[in-house]
Amino acid sequence: MILVNGECKQHIEISDRGFQYGDGLFETIEVRNGQPVFLDRHLKRLNTGCRRLHIPCPDSEVITAEALDLCKDSSLAVLKLIVTRGSGGRGYRQPDLIQPTRVLSLHPYPDYPSSFVEQGIIARFCTTRLGLNPSLAGIKHMNRLEQILARAEWNDPAIQEGIMMDVNDHIIEGTMTNLFYVKNGSVYTASLSQSGIAGIMRSIIIEILSSNHIKTVEKPFKKNEFLSADEIFVSNSIIGLWPINQIENKHFSIGPLTRQIQFCLDRLKSGAEASLP
Ligand SMILES: Cc1ncc(COP(=O)(O)O)c(C=O)c1O
Repeated sequence: MILVNGECKQHIEISDRGFQYGDGLFETIEVRNGQPVFLDRHLKRLNTGCRRLHIPCPDSEVITAEALDLCKDSSLAVLKLIVTRGSGGRGYRQPDLIQPTRVLSLHPYPDYPSSFVEQGIIARFCTTRLGLNPSLAGIKHMNRLEQILARAEWNDPAIQEGIMMDVNDHIIEGTMTNLFYVKNGSVYTASLSQSGIAGIMRSIIIEILSSNHIKTVEKPFKKNEFLSADEIFVSNSIIGLWPINQIENKHFSIGPLTRQIQFCLDRLKSGAEASLP
């Protein structure tokens, strides 16, 4: 089922600026036991994105009610939420009165094998680079051409994720994930002030680490430093956390910190406290 501005429909207007220009934002949310997981955090990021793009954000209570209604019979699924600037304006110029379009749709949960969580995945470096743009960095806007070009770089089903660098050779994130590495007991992740998406799962992992007195250092880093890591993992709202066990010809073991964070994430999702074992 798809809800467009609260109505059960399959279509949006061709004039919609989401379709015309990618003028909008989206959220991809895990659904478990009829509930959208971490919905409050997704709505907060959506609100931040709307503020940055000057789109009036649809009421969170309205979205929540529609989301709960759409998800109520799904034990495991993916909820996609899109908010665009709606139709109107002339060319790039916005209309004086913005009437946003909101679309909520439910999708099957991807059938990733459990080995990705348990034994890790293989990743590669992409040649497509991320551009730098502080006014778009961090938000989940609808222009994802860089990720689409990067994902088109490989077909090998053995490779599950591509690692993307920005135009200055800084490693930023995966094509669909955020990236962390562990070195000598410290955790590092890219700073996202110029490019990348500030993931919900990324923020949860940083909070889990922080509440266990482990600081995550957000900083720019390059390939050599990254490849000297002890542990590497990627995260997003659908997969949770996947360890990386191989990047091109270099192998990584799945370390204790990665396992501890996975344990905490499982507990958090089942409603228990998130302290490291
Ligand atoms: C490019 C990119 N970075 C990061 C993420 C992770 O975001 P989240 O944890 O909110 O799912 C995603 C998720 O789709 C993504 O597409």
